[in-house]
Amino acid sequence: MRAPRIEHHTRPIGIGECVPRLSWQVETDQPGWRQQAYEIQGDGWTSGRIDAADSVLVPWPGPALVSRERVEIRVRVWAEGSSEPTAWSPPTAVEAGLLDPGEWQALFVGSADISQGDRRPILLRRDFSVRPDLIQARVYATASGVYELELNGERAGDDVLAPGWTSYHHRLNYQTYDVTGLLRPGANTITGWLADGWWRGEFGWNRVGERYGSDTALMAQLELVYADGTVERVVTDDSWTWAYGPILSSSIYDGERYDARVEAGGWSRVQKKEGPEGELISPAGPPVRRVEELAPVSVRRVDDDTHLLDFGQNLAGRLRITVAGPAGTEIGMRHAEVLEDGRLCLRPIRTADAHDVYVLAGDGVETWEPRFTYHGFRYAEITGWPGSLDAGSVVAVVCHDDMIETGQFACSDPLLERLHENVRWSMRDNFVSVPTDCPQRDERLGWTGDLQVFAPTAAFLYDVTGKIGDWLADVAAETGDDGLVPLYVPHIPTSFPQFHCAVWGDVTTVVPLVLLDLSGDTNPVVAGYETAQRWVEGCRRLLNERDVIDSGMQLGDWLDPAAPSDAPAQARTDPYLVATAYLAYSARLLARQARLVGKDDDEVRYAELAEAVTLGFRREFATASGRCVSDTQTAYALAICFGLLPAEQRVHAGDRLAQLVREAEFRIGTGFAGTPLVLDALTDTGHLEEAYRLLLSRDCPSWLYPVTMGATTIWERWDSMLPDGTINPGNMTSFNHYALGAVADWMHRVVGGLAPAAPGYRSMLVRPRPGGGLSSASARHLTPYGPAEVSWRRSGGKLLVDVVVPPGCDATVDLPGSSPVAVLSGRHHFEVDHLGPDADPLSPLPPRQRF
Ligand code: BGC
Repeated sequence: MRAPRIEHHTRPIGIGECVPRLSWQVETDQPGWRQQAYEIQGDGWTSGRIDAADSVLVPWPGPALVSRERVEIRVRVWAEGSSEPTAWSPPTAVEAGLLDPGEWQALFVGSADISQGDRRPILLRRDFSVRPDLIQARVYATASGVYELELNGERAGDDVLAPGWTSYHHRLNYQTYDVTGLLRPGANTITGWLADGWWRGEFGWNRVGERYGSDTALMAQLELVYADGTVERVVTDDSWTWAYGPILSSSIYDGERYDARVEAGGWSRVQKKEGPEGELISPAGPPVRRVEELAPVSVRRVDDDTHLLDFGQNLAGRLRITVAGPAGTEIGMRHAEVLEDGRLCLRPIRTADAHDVYVLAGDGVETWEPRFTYHGFRYAEITGWPGSLDAGSVVAVVCHDDMIETGQFACSDPLLERLHENVRWSMRDNFVSVPTDCPQRDERLGWTGDLQVFAPTAAFLYDVTGKIGDWLADVAAETGDDGLVPLYVPHIPTSFPQFHCAVWGDVTTVVPLVLLDLSGDTNPVVAGYETAQRWVEGCRRLLNERDVIDSGMQLGDWLDPAAPSDAPAQARTDPYLVATAYLAYSARLLARQARLVGKDDDEVRYAELAEAVTLGFRREFATASGRCVSDTQTAYALAICFGLLPAEQRVHAGDRLAQLVREAEFRIGTGFAGTPLVLDALTDTGHLEEAYRLLLSRDCPSWLYPVTMGATTIWERWDSMLPDGTINPGNMTSFNHYALGAVADWMHRVVGGLAPAAPGYRSMLVRPRPGGGLSSASARHLTPYGPAEVSWRRSGGKLLVDVVVPPGCDATVDLPGSSPVAVLSGRHHFEVDHLGPDADPLSPLPPRQRF
């Protein structure tokens, strides 16, 4: 038995749930193992034996936690057919945060310099003393701005850019740190560093500052618990002082400027500030942390004063330098994703300056990394370095949400493996507090459409249920009663209008079910139901008398490769075909959600809506035989995957799609709407070979074309870099957008052959479909029940398949050319004759969202 997991927390301290759900995994090789009963023990209580097979997110059986309460939880289980329980699991300590707003005695405080025109970061400080018999210390903190805390010069916790970005009007995260080890009897100092971050910094491409307020402020509550049970609090109030420090400026887009010669001085009393309106929240998902360090793969002098560093990988993060030199030496660091003519190509980052500056104190070896900024880059140019810069003096510190990795894919084609790695990197680089579109330019917004299409891949690769659940709470908070889902969340006004936009707003109907299917958690569905309903009702109001959406703005099949580089919405597929197809699909998903939340009337209502819009779609956008009026890859992909055509038309539509793909010489023809679906549409209609040829094409545009051009992340455009190595002239040219990487979901399910068939993979569908000349592939996923794996290889006309089904789960194993078999947990080996896909006509795969 492994130690139980508390909700989706990785470090369950200061949690916001008073009755957290518990999950556990049993480590056993015993075939067909099933749990019959469990017992959960807390401090001084036990659930007693509970006869149930559940082991994922089971209800808290003890008394509800009160603020600050700490309990050690352990679990034991009884296997079916065994009268003896397992040994007790190792314990997990869970500690509640401040569960009631009345627990906060701290105030928001900040600088008293009302001129603050330069928005310079500040330090805040308070001295206090600690008695010798301290047994525990916690600090609860948040900010309007971004902050770091130190106790006696040592960092409290290891979060980056805390408290993170949320819709501050509605929700503001706070953090809880165990700082017991940082205190000492006698005199102590607590210090806060505070900068603009998303709160007051310029954000959005129209570069507006003070998005949420004109003052930054810190709120911190240090609680000291002594052996005799007494508690002392050191809280932000008017006894604190503030001063400007060595950070001269800091901006997420532009970078940070730090003068190490500057000592914070002129401390004066802080001023009380208005706190954010939003509710204080202890987040369910992990914070941004420094996750990995990469050394440069090359350092080259490009002119008298400039070194060009290549980190070999496009990443989100910043540099840490170690340097010695004369006081006042100014070191500049610029960042870019790509080179042009051997130097940084800065045009794609638009108005983001991405420029950090460190001014040396000159007192020996100095190490510096900016605190309150991050950049999207592979290359950096460093100017002003004293003496020669050797590769060991600079590292790239990769910063992103500290998520548990849960998914892997491997295969015999190195280019395809690199594509998959690129998908993983683009996900990592864009999970920075919110799921962003890109990490480098003056944008980094939580575009809802990007996450909608990428969610199945994201939830396979990493445990994101807590993280995305937090973000969906902001989506819900910012969705209007009219069902207007912001195009990006948190929403800040820009030049972009708000409108009911298919693919983007469908985040509300699609993503909660993706989270349910991959993690087994029903909460996102329950919490998001009303928002999803508002979205669907809002779209229903757009229907004309023919049950078709035919007016209003739409982004449609955004970034169709045929769209002009300055008009990414000018796709070949009719945007109203996309919008109508998505409404039919979303209404069907909402009907499923209604069933899950026990709203039977709604289930009928939305099933009827789905049917009506499906019929509207057929009348308006499909011929009687199954051609689509937009004769495009995306139109067929939507019609087939969303089940919009009757059986015969579907066959014809699949054939036509395959023909289009062949006519395009296996070049991709889809944008954001069609890309996640086109391979499923081919596979589901019996065109596996075309699917593989599309996946494996290296011509531009294709998934592998960027890989052949040296990409280490997924590009925003199919041709962000043109075949001649120049950069796409479009104003919107990122090299790090995950949306087109949504194809990895197909790789996991169809190449690897691993898919959930019941929430949380409690039942799995093992259905690999080898092709494309691959000789082997595997997909692994850490399900909530334990590791699952499918791996296959071809050998001498046979297909050899190994399957691992986690304890308590079962699987349907459906291999080419043989009838499906049902298996229970454990390791299984299969061998079937397999001469290749052509020799093996396929029955259609079941449609997406199949259970
Ligand atoms: C973003 C996208 C987004 C799109 C929608 C872009 O600027 O980077 O990924 O979904 O705008 O208009």
